[in-house]
Amino acid sequence: MNINRKRKKDEIKKVLLTREQIQEKVKELAEKISSDYKNKELTIIGVLKGSIIFFSDLARCLKVDCSFDFISVSSYKKTKSTGVVRLLSDLREDPVGKNLLLVDEIVDTGYTLNYLHKNLKTRQPASVRTCVLLDKSGLRKVPVKIDYKGFVVPNSFLVGYGLDYKEKYRNLPYIGILKC
Ligand code: IMP
Ligand code: MG
Repeated sequence: MNINRKRKKDEIKKVLLTREQIQEKVKELAEKISSDYKNKELTIIGVLKGSIIFFSDLARCLKVDCSFDFISVSSYKKTKSTGVVRLLSDLREDPVGKNLLLVDEIVDTGYTLNYLHKNLKTRQPASVRTCVLLDKSGLRKVPVKIDYKGFVVPNSFLVGYGLDYKEKYRNLPYIGILKC
């Protein structure tokens, strides 16, 4: 039995989104972003580490030139948000005057994106927008403006396609609900 199938059987309650469903949505988001940023310079900022798979798939579907940057934050302990967002590592490039697109794989309480959006706004960029693949909208504690959204998902702990539980499962090609 292949390793991903074994992991699915033992530890994943249900596959929520297949690889195909995800890829179709990524293309759709990229089309919209490409048309909105036509003839503009774009910097896409991946929120480490969870966004990396989504970020790299999205980037390869974009039809506009873009630069990459990354920012790393932490707010989760096991499966719960602590509500306190810590900046672990900052952008490498100066965002002044740039069109920034924050890319994250999921928004839940909203603390992470709310913090990052406010933080970037203070650094005089030309613009800041947000793109998330998954939205657990029922769990929002603080408001977040999502400019490009993939799927609205239920309030379950999800893994795969970049999402982890204690650093496991990030490399699953689908998104599943973890057996808790
Ligand atoms: P928020 O600050 O509560 O909106 O959460 C944002 C971050 O928490 C995401 O970027 C993820 O890294 C992590 N997160 C939220 N929900 C899940 C989940 O279901 N599985 C894995 N990580 C999650
Ligand atoms: Mg994250």
